[in-house]
Amino acid sequence: MTLTFKKNLVTKMLLCLGGVVFLSGCVNDQSDKKYNDTVDIPVNQEMIAELTSPPFVPTPVGKRMAKKLIVDLEIQEREGEMTGGVKYVYWTFGGTVPGSFIRTRVGDEVEFHLKNHPDNKLPHNIDLHAVNGPGGGAESSFVAPGHEKVFSFKVLNPGLYVYHCATAPVGMHIANGMYGLILVEPEGGLEPVDKEYYIMQGDFYTEGKYGERGLQAFDMQKAINETPDYVVFNGHVGAMTGDNALTAKVGEKIRLFVGNGGPGLVSSFHVIGEIFDKVHIEGGSMINENVQTTMIPAGGAAIVEFRVDVPGTFILVDHSIFRAFNKGALAMLKVEGEENKAIYSGEIRDGIYLPEGGAIQSMPTDGVKKEKEEVKAFTFEERMKFGKDKFTATCVACHQANGQGIPGAFPPLAKSDYLNADVNRAIDIVLHGKTGEITVNGKKYNSVMTAQALSDEDVTNVLTYVYNSWGNSKKEVTPEMVQAVRNK
Ligand code: CU
Repeated sequence: MTLTFKKNLVTKMLLCLGGVVFLSGCVNDQSDKKYNDTVDIPVNQEMIAELTSPPFVPTPVGKRMAKKLIVDLEIQEREGEMTGGVKYVYWTFGGTVPGSFIRTRVGDEVEFHLKNHPDNKLPHNIDLHAVNGPGGGAESSFVAPGHEKVFSFKVLNPGLYVYHCATAPVGMHIANGMYGLILVEPEGGLEPVDKEYYIMQGDFYTEGKYGERGLQAFDMQKAINETPDYVVFNGHVGAMTGDNALTAKVGEKIRLFVGNGGPGLVSSFHVIGEIFDKVHIEGGSMINENVQTTMIPAGGAAIVEFRVDVPGTFILVDHSIFRAFNKGALAMLKVEGEENKAIYSGEIRDGIYLPEGGAIQSMPTDGVKKEKEEVKAFTFEERMKFGKDKFTATCVACHQANGQGIPGAFPPLAKSDYLNADVNRAIDIVLHGKTGEITVNGKKYNSVMTAQALSDEDVTNVLTYVYNSWGNSKKEVTPEMVQAVRNK
């Protein structure tokens, strides 16, 4: 910020020196006037800033005057779940990843209180990209466990800004979840919308590969190589899917405050089945319209707005698409309301077309055979727990968390006559995949299920979970049964 501002000044000075003719134009420079006006915005009252956990944001500033805004943020180092059975020690601003959302307006004077909980093990600090000052506040906020640091800044530039920890090793502090967003609304506030949400992408680097159970340590070498095991929205796999999906009603105008904490990857943010009516590019003042995918750099943000026209589940992804379907960068927006066949017809015809592309694909098996020591389930409860974890990691995108499937695309597993009729057929499908038409509960499905690269133990667990959930037949599945089908 400081650098850019100085550079602008230098440029302006050079321009002024370069042509005396333009001297009067320089004196009345609009941006200088605006800048001075912002600095001079008076601050009369004091208020405590409302802070929210993702995916929620504080109340819009609307027409409120500039104030002295007290921000109280506590750093917490705490264990959380990356995905089923995978634990990770997150370092957080306010107990969540991303950290608490801070909402300000131009002209506010923010008095920032950064508190480092006494149970924490490390010192931290904060660099807010909305600050004009050395280190974005980092130099004034370096705080040891059990201490509090206070500094203040005048909010000058409207926009959506990232904040993050800047304590060495900086990359590691960010990789552990130390980032969030601070919004600076212009005078008079942003235009009102129906729903606002807070989403932030981050990449995580664990010693074990994706889905490997247990407490996972941070892997510095993977971080340096920028090869994350997890790329997620809001700190963990499935933070906004199933019951935690974002919601809206047909006709509503949605605004998403989207940030990218990195530390390594740039995001290609996209909502499947929607077009952004407006994008505040890089979170700044320039607005682009009718955008399919917007790039969000590491340490950057964007504000996207769109009206939802038809009901359905809209999937939010990083369109570097393996990150979405294999590393976790996937969220859901569930829209309820009236169909509008003029905007979207739904399926009109279903015919068979099978050239060479219709064959079943297999997931790569590399790694499955080399699995060092597989954690085995000894009890039914363990089978159910491990099975649920595996289901969440592998099956949930198509069959959904409650086994309902996706109408017209993926068959339900809940109360499924097809599933309950034949356990060996179910084992076979998990092991070898399935293509072609089947009828489930009276409805026809014609999709492709890929063969899953799962061990016998995994298949046993996941099918035990499926058969003993959602009103199914409670069939018992054993590793021996799976082995028998595999060797058939
Ligand atoms: Cu830190």
